[in-house]
Amino acid sequence: MTDQQHAQQQQHENGHKHGHQHGHDATHMDWDVMGPLLELGAEVESPVVDQAAVWLRERREAAGRPEVRRLLDVGSGPGVGACQFAQAFPDAEVVAVDGTRALLERARARAEGLGLAGRVRTCLADIPDGLGTVGDADLIWSGMALHHIGDQRSAVDRLGRLLRPGGLLAVAEGGLPTRSLPRDIGFGRPGLQARLEVLNDNWFNEMRAALPDSKETVEDWPAFLTAAGLTDVRSRTFLIDLPAPLGADARAYLHATLTRRSESLGELLDAEDRAALARLLDPEDPQGLMLRPDVFLLSARTVHTGVKPA
Ligand SMILES: C[S@@+](CC[C@H](N)C(=O)[O-])C[C@H]1O[C@@H](n2cnc3c(N)ncnc32)[C@H](O)[C@@H]1O
Repeated sequence: MTDQQHAQQQQHENGHKHGHQHGHDATHMDWDVMGPLLELGAEVESPVVDQAAVWLRERREAAGRPEVRRLLDVGSGPGVGACQFAQAFPDAEVVAVDGTRALLERARARAEGLGLAGRVRTCLADIPDGLGTVGDADLIWSGMALHHIGDQRSAVDRLGRLLRPGGLLAVAEGGLPTRSLPRDIGFGRPGLQARLEVLNDNWFNEMRAALPDSKETVEDWPAFLTAAGLTDVRSRTFLIDLPAPLGADARAYLHATLTRRSESLGELLDAEDRAALARLLDPEDPQGLMLRPDVFLLSARTVHTGVKPA
């Protein structure tokens, strides 16, 4: 199949996959246009990948298998993490695997800009059905991607099968939602961020229910790794703790995220919360996200790991 045919098939599949509307149409993930937001978010949260890479290297060393020759980043998006892994594992060929061509283009440009083009490759593939073509690896990372797959347990199983004997799988899923504002922001009803989280959880349920082959399951990632035949299953959580006053990039990321959330969930808020949200998003309001002094970014990401028996 040519690249173009592959992309057309992918587009068809993505259209099919996300075309099912469940409730309001906000469950549609338009990955093609999400590059800038995903890239900015991954840059802001890059300390998580740096810390996780150190832990994964320690795990490999403790198992007597320090060398990583081939590393897959499955659901890589724009390749921020893939490039970090290439820096953390300087002997590895890193393959950024994703189903969205536009995001892989960003990954290639990023790798080139960082002088990593010789070691960071991209592979357009659908998860899970396209994984047969990506090859095996010593280390597989998948960050915040598998929750977009209908059958998460079977996706973990597929990734486990791509590991070389003794290989390590790391799935970053779960943790804590991001907090960035005091409970009382000085206007509106206190607790706006908590109410938005509840609405977002409902949206997440609808998004998952609309996925093809969507399976309701206990989201026990360590159990998924164990069921995939992996051993020495361990999880660790890494904190993203950027205190106030927040830098420009993190502020821009929070503003872009809240704008998206306002567009998809705003109509579900009452009038007082909608007015408070509009103030927060106003770039010229001194009490808005872009200018107020008390904005911070606090979040946590959990990484679940397991080893394929040699
Ligand atoms: C939330 S982003 C995470 C990107 C990156 N791993 C990160 O942590 O910043 C999810 C990624 O999964 C990819 N994705 C979602 N469903 C997919 C599928 N069925 N096949 C392949 N890629 C998929 C999207 O294109 C997107 O790049």
